[in-house]
Amino acid sequence: MKTFRIAIAGFGGVGRATASLLLSRRARYCEIYDADVRLVAVCGSRSGVKSAYGLEKEQLSTLEDGLSGPAFIEESGADILIEAGPSDFRTGGPGLAYLRSSLSAGHDTIVISKGALVHRGRELRALAKGSGAILKLSGAAAAALPTIDLVEHNLKGCEVLEVEGILNATTNYLLEAMTTRGIGFEHALREAQLGGFAEADPRNDTEGWDTACKLLILANFGLGADLTMNDLTVEGIQSVSAERIEAWRGQGLVPKLVGRISRGNGAIRAEVGIRTYPLADPFANVRGRDKAIRIVTEAMGKTLAIGSGMEPLATAAAALKDLEHILAARMA
Ligand SMILES: NC(=O)c1ccc[n+]([C@@H]2O[C@H](COP(=O)([O-])OP(=O)(O)OC[C@H]3O[C@@H](n4cnc5c(N)ncnc54)[C@H](OP(=O)(O)O)[C@@H]3O)[C@@H](O)[C@H]2O)c1
Repeated sequence: MKTFRIAIAGFGGVGRATASLLLSRRARYCEIYDADVRLVAVCGSRSGVKSAYGLEKEQLSTLEDGLSGPAFIEESGADILIEAGPSDFRTGGPGLAYLRSSLSAGHDTIVISKGALVHRGRELRALAKGSGAILKLSGAAAAALPTIDLVEHNLKGCEVLEVEGILNATTNYLLEAMTTRGIGFEHALREAQLGGFAEADPRNDTEGWDTACKLLILANFGLGADLTMNDLTVEGIQSVSAERIEAWRGQGLVPKLVGRISRGNGAIRAEVGIRTYPLADPFANVRGRDKAIRIVTEAMGKTLAIGSGMEPLATAAAALKDLEHILAARMA
């Protein structure tokens, strides 16, 4: 049996859910992959805990001050990193230093935050290639909704001609509330914030940046593009008026905030904006906080997936799906 030592950097809602799901699946890893998977370190911004023998559930509530940072993770002896810190696509966020350290050392790496992948994707790909580390990022590319995996596994070998995705749950929820109940953007947003479905500062979602990050990650890591945020046209939903919604309703159209990737003249283009769909289109029926993706390939035609996992468990499960791909590859 081979031992795999896992560290988690970023120990908020998603990091904790990932740790707890990983511990509950240890017997599965043993049985299916003949792998002894140990969680050897976790850390937040200022504190952490490690054990070479593997942390148990009770130890995850006793983080010690001062144990954090890429050096702490390296010292833990981890050979796989799961990075779940805050996302900042303008700077790469704290995740960038962890990812550089892990990939340079040749450690397989699972990324959940989007910031570093958007800001320094090319560099991180090169680091992984240079060191032979496997870099997986389902959690950063719409998590419970399969996106990269659809392209890499289910549509393997096909040429992707077009991708359309409803990739942000908050904007889908808001647009649906505006469309079905005739309320304005501000009203829908206040309700969503009170219900915990929208952030206190919702601009990352409502202005389309979260969708743009996921789209850019899919384009660059899934389709081999080399786009930066400056290459994308990004429109949000913040200026959609009740009058516009009413006009669409009158025409039997449902608005969605959609990220779209297309190929033309050998180049890949990506844009985020409102698109409208007739009621018979499956995209018109993606409800509430669900997400969806439609991929058109030259050989397999249209493939559609709709995801509706509960967060943060679904994101943790997406990261651990990546872990199983790594276990399978390393045990082959
Ligand atoms: N929530 C979801 O369902 C979801 C879905 C898909 C992707 N994501 C992505 O997953 C990531 C985590 O989300 P979350 O909801 O768990 O956020 P969160 O609850 O705010 O947790 C963020 C964690 O990162 C830690 N952190 C900050 N700076 C750090 C540093 N320098 N080193 C180590 N840890 C650091 C924080 O530490 P302290 O506790 O010490 O502040 C906190 O534990 C985000 O990038 C998010 O975009 C989330």
